[in-house]
Amino acid sequence: MIVYFTGTGNSRYCAQMLSDRLGDELTDSFHFIRDGVGAELASQRPWVFVSPTYAWRLPRIFMEFIRSGHFSGSREVYFVMTCGSEIGHAAGGNRALCAEKLLCYKGTMQVVMPENYIALYNAPEEAEAQKIVDSARPTLEKAIDCISAHRDFPAPTAGVVDCLKSGMVNPLFYHFIVKARPFIASDACFGCGKCVQNCVLGNIKLREGKPAWGDRCTHCMACICFCPAKAIEYGKASVGKPRYRCPPYRQNE
Ligand SMILES: Cc1cc2nc3c(=O)[nH]c(=O)nc-3n(C[C@H](O)[C@H](O)[C@H](O)COP(=O)(O)O)c2cc1C
Repeated sequence: MIVYFTGTGNSRYCAQMLSDRLGDELTDSFHFIRDGVGAELASQRPWVFVSPTYAWRLPRIFMEFIRSGHFSGSREVYFVMTCGSEIGHAAGGNRALCAEKLLCYKGTMQVVMPENYIALYNAPEEAEAQKIVDSARPTLEKAIDCISAHRDFPAPTAGVVDCLKSGMVNPLFYHFIVKARPFIASDACFGCGKCVQNCVLGNIKLREGKPAWGDRCTHCMACICFCPAKAIEYGKASVGKPRYRCPPYRQNE
């Protein structure tokens, strides 16, 4: 079973392609995470967890989803991690998670997709994003070959810097950078509530017709990138930057 988490659609795109090509079931973790319900899933096919990379590791909320879930049937687990540039030594944490859950770790595949982190960096414009998505497909093909043959993913090479990023820097990133406070809605906001619906942590409420953020943000960038009025900003950091949404996956591409 292919189980995914996504903020802006890159990981959904990859999960859909894997599901389509492997003929395997697709499950979105959104409602489990949002409702705080532990997953109870069963599959005789390998587990494939697909997710973005947050500070060179799996996003904390997705890690917690896996940790608290019950995955019965197959013991084999693959991780496919989408990223803007690199996943550092995320594989170390994924292997440890499998050991904790008595699952058989089959590897972590890095898939470079368009950058979505507009609170810190720039996202590409549409045409450039499409090129990046197209060039990710051969890596996904490799993943599909390995999974269908029950073969381990090729072992990634990780140096000292990668270990530092995924190790020491990751908790510092959550502590100092991941804050909802800078999010604001401009006068362009017409109170449609899309941001409320899209927030995986249920962290946004409408107050007097405008979004208000609580303190449970994970910086997935869904609220800001899917706002139909482009009314949400992350302080000054996002002003003038393109909003990013992954183009849809089409079968038989
Ligand atoms: C909070 C946050 C942290 C990120 N950290 C990394 C990172 O460590 N390395 C990287 O290459 N990309 C990083 N990115 C970029 C995303 O991992 C990448 O764009 C991903 O494909 C987005 O997937 P999604 O569209 O499924 O949410 C980060 C993005 C966000 C929002």
